[in-house]
Amino acid sequence: MTAVGIDAMEIWTGKLQLDLPNTFAPVKGDDPEKYTKGLGLEKSSFPDVYEDIVTMGANAAKRLMDRKDLSPEDVGRIDVATESAFDHSKPVSTYIAGCLEQVYDGDFRHANKGERKFACVAGTQAIDDAYNWIKAGRNRDKAALVVATDTALYERGDPGEATQGAGAVALLIDEDPDVLELTGDQGYGSMDETDFLKPNQQFPSVDGKRSMQVYLARMREAWEDYESIAGKIEPDDFAYSPFHTPFPGMVRKAGLFAYRRLVRNTPVEDDLAETIGRQPREQDYEDRDAYEEAISEYMDELKATDLYQNWYAGTVEPTLELSRNVGNWYTGSVHIARASALRHAAEMDKDLAGEKLLVASYGSGAQAEIHSEVVVDGWREEIEALNIDEQLESRYDLTFDEYEQVHNVHDYDKDVEVEEFTAPDGEFVFTGWGRMNERKYEFAE
Ligand code: COA
Repeated sequence: MTAVGIDAMEIWTGKLQLDLPNTFAPVKGDDPEKYTKGLGLEKSSFPDVYEDIVTMGANAAKRLMDRKDLSPEDVGRIDVATESAFDHSKPVSTYIAGCLEQVYDGDFRHANKGERKFACVAGTQAIDDAYNWIKAGRNRDKAALVVATDTALYERGDPGEATQGAGAVALLIDEDPDVLELTGDQGYGSMDETDFLKPNQQFPSVDGKRSMQVYLARMREAWEDYESIAGKIEPDDFAYSPFHTPFPGMVRKAGLFAYRRLVRNTPVEDDLAETIGRQPREQDYEDRDAYEEAISEYMDELKATDLYQNWYAGTVEPTLELSRNVGNWYTGSVHIARASALRHAAEMDKDLAGEKLLVASYGSGAQAEIHSEVVVDGWREEIEALNIDEQLESRYDLTFDEYEQVHNVHDYDKDVEVEEFTAPDGEFVFTGWGRMNERKYEFAE
């Protein structure tokens, strides 16, 4: 059977940054450690005035096509995952294809284009669609381009404001991939939930605390579903576990839940029992409240153990590096978590080929999906080709006043003129609105 998976990836960050502990926290009157230690965030990325989901997605895709020496005819499918679309009918993939056609010979005339929506899990779903299309033998030797692109802005003053971010991830899904093979092992946890939504509005209505509970509940179900087909997951099965990362503090919570589940009924639980006792079992408690209190005490103790801390430091912490410095990229978030992990392995000079990743995605509304991937030869070269460090270092550092201007300029209900903070350099830019209210783009040399 031909291997199908991720052949290449590219990342494009918004070109502005907001320093959360040093610029945002003082104006909000907050302790900077709420951001650095509590949420686990240092900086958020923001789009400059000439950037949006189309420019960021097209710029990531162009880097990917240039590096892999692709022409439009090599691509049979373009799916864009986003929760920041500005058009209810014309998919963002058409705008991105239009941009790319300005700079390449040929066109994407025969590529099937679409837009995937399910909050932050849509990027993973688009990969899945591409995988199925190729596995079904319907790709005619062409690859699929998946772009996850978002401008994650919240209403000013919303608690989510601290977790904003903007950027895009482009992924090439193909046969005989150079980075990761998708295994087909997969589980879902999905229920109708009202935790985060945008009913005909630009900024989300969010029940932040509820969304955190729903994230954990749906992940647990996806885990059960995954194990029902792939067998029990053991702590050492996976080199890394990239989670959807709305902010690293969320993953810190999810990691602890995951570990409790991972070690239950294993020799590790027996080892741990010597110091912190066995995990509470519901049947041993009079009621749900007593059981939950016991769980909470057990988790506090588990968090402090060397066994847990070593597992977390090796398997989860390395996935958070990019997120910590860019904030929430919604659909792209789990994909930058994966990229962070692979970058970490390259920096540590790890021999990762043949190792597995457990990828845990989540979208509010709500659905979690867990699947496994196998790292393949070629991963290091692909990851070392990323230039995300240079991009992050060259971001313009906003003052709070400038941040307010940037938020206003991207707010569709406001009509403000703001000078750009950076100069475009060999990239797609937004140039204004057309006669049918379409957004227009050019390649700026
Ligand atoms: N030092 C260290 N930690 C601190 C701190 C300080 N000075 N002040 C606060 N913290 C910790 C809090 O204890 C909390 O951690 P905990 O949950 O482990 O207890 C964390 O920082 C966040 O503080 P909190 O007061 O809960 O923040 P908030 O109420 O302002 O908002 C969210 C947090 C997540 C609800 C908010 O950012 C949000 O709505 N985000 C958007 C939705 C989202 O991303 N959901 C996730 C699932 S998709």
